[in-house]
Amino acid sequence: MKVTIFGSGYVGLVTGTCLAEVGNDVLCVDVDERKINMLNNGESPIYEPGLDDLIARNKAEGRLRFTTDIAEGVGHGLFQFIAVGTPPDEDGSADLQYVLSVARSIGEHMDDYTVVIDKSTVPVGTADRVKSAINEELEKRALTSSLEFDVVSNPEFLKEGAAIDDFMKPERIIVGTDNPRTTELIRALYSPFNRSHDRLIAMDIRSAELTKYASNAMLATKISFMNELANLAERLDADIEKVRIGMGSDPRIGYHFIYPGCGYGGSCFPKDVQALERTAREVDYDARLLNAVEAVNYRQKQVLVDKIHNHFEGKLKGLTFAVWGLAFKPNTDDMREAPSRTLMEALWKAGASVQAYDPEAMGEARRLYSERPDLELVDDPMSALKGADALVVVTEWPKFRSPDFDEIKRNLNTPLIFDGRNLYDPAQMKDAGIAYYAIGRGL
Ligand code: UGA
Repeated sequence: MKVTIFGSGYVGLVTGTCLAEVGNDVLCVDVDERKINMLNNGESPIYEPGLDDLIARNKAEGRLRFTTDIAEGVGHGLFQFIAVGTPPDEDGSADLQYVLSVARSIGEHMDDYTVVIDKSTVPVGTADRVKSAINEELEKRALTSSLEFDVVSNPEFLKEGAAIDDFMKPERIIVGTDNPRTTELIRALYSPFNRSHDRLIAMDIRSAELTKYASNAMLATKISFMNELANLAERLDADIEKVRIGMGSDPRIGYHFIYPGCGYGGSCFPKDVQALERTAREVDYDARLLNAVEAVNYRQKQVLVDKIHNHFEGKLKGLTFAVWGLAFKPNTDDMREAPSRTLMEALWKAGASVQAYDPEAMGEARRLYSERPDLELVDDPMSALKGADALVVVTEWPKFRSPDFDEIKRNLNTPLIFDGRNLYDPAQMKDAGIAYYAIGRGL
């Protein structure tokens, strides 16, 4: 089948590449010439495990192509995916200018029946706006009655770092449409990923659009709830890690996504919770729980900073901190809304400097903070510790889980660890003579 993907960002590239991998003829379109040049030279503009090889193979075998030519893109696919960015506006709502501009281009150039698929995370009601934008262009060409199209909401549920697997083995394929014929076309397109049992859930467009926000908001709520409980546990001399295991054993609660930490980050949860709050305001609904989820997360990103301030009684000027982990989570180089940024910016503000290491996000850190004299990016975890007054663990990369604590002690000025991910055993830290601060571990 012929597929066009507008937007060669994270979602678009993974979608296009995986659809090509199962034999479709995929054309990816992006206005960013630099990105398209990179892809045409066989380089991926994003880091995602397994993606580079898949792009190279499908490109070499002629099923995956890249272009900046929008008209060529519209001319190519029966399926036209809109997977462009929806950055938050100043007020937190999703900025739809890129989505609507693709819709207008489709209306301007299409010459056959087309299935237009919203893949970007877009507020409820966007499919209607996409439909109107296409219709306006068709009207200009006096083609409204002769050219048909359908708009589908098909939100993505990829996790960065596991995106290929998530796409190839989806837990669900949400299809929002008001035309049953379109559901069957989408079913055919997704059939290679929908074999063992039917995972396709068809519904109306608005419910599909809301399902995406509802899922992310629910997950963010779980995290903020656990972080709230962690802060409480600490003050009650209880251990949130024990509480977590006790809670998770109830299958109605479950073990997934109840890890306390130094706050959620990334391009999705912060943006989507804010956008849903904004949507609620627009329909005069005071979404109190969503507001609280966001407020708790904002505070949680300060928790490590507060612990450091308390330990050093506010005297951070001239101190050096080793930071392990800059990406918002492991297996990505993404630092959008990362807790490491809140931490480092607070340390710099207080006059301290940072020696940081991350297995993948060094390039991104260099791009974001190239001007900072108080940031030194080092090549391995132990080098970050040399001459530092404490180690702060911010991202739970596997290689930080079982370090040589003797070496840590030898390298640090004082044996002191602030752990934002509860990676270590407090009792072991005590035995090793390391002062240890974790999240929600009051004992
Ligand atoms: C999230 C969702 O998990 C995906 O299902 C969704 O498709 C995606 O957003 C999206 O909307 O595109 P992602 O942002 O890649 O995926 O990252 P997650 O693995 O969900 O982690 C988000 C944040 O929550 C990270 O900062 C992580 O450290 C934090 N987290 C996660 C916790 O603090 N505790 C947990 O128990 C789990």
